[in-house]
Amino acid sequence: MYRILLVCLGNICRSPMAEAVFHDVMARRGLASMLQVDSAAIGRSHLKEKPDRRAIACALSQGYRHIEQVRSRQIKAQDFLQFDLILAMDESVLRALQRQCPQEAQHKLDLFLRFAGHEGEQEVPDPYYGNAEGFAKVLGLCEGGVNAILQKLDLQR
Ligand code: 4NP
Repeated sequence: MYRILLVCLGNICRSPMAEAVFHDVMARRGLASMLQVDSAAIGRSHLKEKPDRRAIACALSQGYRHIEQVRSRQIKAQDFLQFDLILAMDESVLRALQRQCPQEAQHKLDLFLRFAGHEGEQEVPDPYYGNAEGFAKVLGLCEGGVNAILQKLDLQR
């Protein structure tokens, strides 16, 4: 089974939304057993918390119910060995990952949108200090990214 870890600063907005989209899209397409997707934080300020209520509301409004299952956790050394692909939501998260990651696993690191082949912006903007519009933008980027990544990995049932 292929394993993807999604990482942002707090693991309460962007990476839980991306995890929820992955989870629910894969379930709808019967791909759940092909891929394991998890998410984690760089920081430790929201450990064990549910996602931000705005992230939950935004994801639920589009039917991504898995958002309610996510609890914030911090990335740990083992993650760099256990996951096949570790995708950062923005450049500062990627740099933090690069500092922590052992040499032999550096090749697993990338930006979420860059790995997805997204045209235009390469970062998913931090919506935490913004409004609902910012969360809707994040969700749209997550949906586009997830679909592109699933296509790229060419998972077959
Ligand atoms: P996330 O958003 O990295 O997408 O989960 C943030 C969550 C919390 C904070 C910043 C960004 N914070 O400063 O607490």
